[in-house]
Amino acid sequence: MKTYRVGIIGLGRMGSTIDDEGHTPLPYSIAAACRASERLEIAAGCDLLPERRGDFTRRWRVHAVYEDYTEMVREERPDLVAVCTTASGLQKPAREAPDASFRGDSHAELAVALAEMGVPMIYVEKAMASSMAAADRIRDAVKKNGTVFNTGVLRRFDNRYEVVRNAVLRGDVGEPRAAIHYAQSSLMHGHIHSIDTLSWLIGDPAISSVRGEIAPRDYVIENDHIPYDPTATYELMFENGVRAWSIPAAGWEYEIIGTEGTIRSLNNGAGASLRRVPPGDGHERKGRSNWEEAPFDFVTPKSTVVSCLEDLVNAYETGRKSLGNIETAHHITEACIAVAESHRRGGAWVELPLAGRDLYIWHV
Ligand SMILES: NC(=O)c1ccc[n+]([C@@H]2O[C@H](COP(=O)([O-])OP(=O)(O)OC[C@H]3O[C@@H](n4cnc5c(N)ncnc54)[C@H](O)[C@@H]3O)[C@@H](O)[C@H]2O)c1
Repeated sequence: MKTYRVGIIGLGRMGSTIDDEGHTPLPYSIAAACRASERLEIAAGCDLLPERRGDFTRRWRVHAVYEDYTEMVREERPDLVAVCTTASGLQKPAREAPDASFRGDSHAELAVALAEMGVPMIYVEKAMASSMAAADRIRDAVKKNGTVFNTGVLRRFDNRYEVVRNAVLRGDVGEPRAAIHYAQSSLMHGHIHSIDTLSWLIGDPAISSVRGEIAPRDYVIENDHIPYDPTATYELMFENGVRAWSIPAAGWEYEIIGTEGTIRSLNNGAGASLRRVPPGDGHERKGRSNWEEAPFDFVTPKSTVVSCLEDLVNAYETGRKSLGNIETAHHITEACIAVAESHRRGGAWVELPLAGRDLYIWHV
């Protein structure tokens, strides 16, 4: 079995150290996931900050560290590169764009460059781009170069969400009608996850239109520029007729409501609850409020990052699409940015694809 060599750009939390923070399931950082997987090895790391490079070498005993990612790629020829820089490219704790002309977009810039340099597989932290113009450039470069691509929307690679998705797709709740995300969240940092997961749970039908608003409600978008990552709420219309809403309260949960029941992923994925029309109940009672809790086999959680990186390898070896392939990631990014576009139009429904590609939204 071939082992693939991984280069990591950005040796901070996601690249190297997030495993120390108490999240589960582990491993979570790219470096720890590579160590845990038989398919992957850490080839090299890259960071602008010398202290991060030193910490990385001490922690992972990897001496191939670089300041310049182009040099890392040329020297090490990694099979897979993980982009774990901040989206804006600014060092934390930056919370907003320094001025109205700022268009920093590190994820997009690196993704395009890596695809053009011929790196076969890339993992890009989310959101993959801060504007649709940049997302278009990634899509074009990835398609042109046949790059195998996933992003860090990790619930898509989480077996605790996969069982919920499988239940929805095999019809346990009947025909899906509504999809709901619970939690207050920022648009680009948080709702890129929530929109991606809602889409994933119902089988990724295309999103045809979006409406929403950002906070503060009276915020006026000028010069195609939002200098901070705004809290947002949204409504989505999928092409198969399913409608989705974000509810800005409670912890992170997702619910898919169908004609014959409802399934809810609980407590940020820690469990799930299925309620259905009771067995043997007459068809005439379907859709009424007599649904009962039904048994649901849950799973032992597995590392989402290992699953995501191994999905890249599997897609590379077999030629099948990766689970977070570029068309899907591009479409989800478009839906996310469309929430702000709807805000700009007073909360009107906005059709996808967006006509304007230049709206830039700063995020971490
Ligand atoms: N998917 C997830 O669950 C998850 C979890 C944590 C963080 N993230 C995302 O990962 C990204 C990074 O977050 P973090 O918390 O690890 O940040 P961090 O600040 O801890 O690390 C980022 C590192 O990137 C380096 N860097 C920036 N630009 C660079 C460049 N051009 N070349 C080389 N190095 C560069 C910085 O010096 C810094 O060390 C963010 O977009 C964040 O949203 C995702």
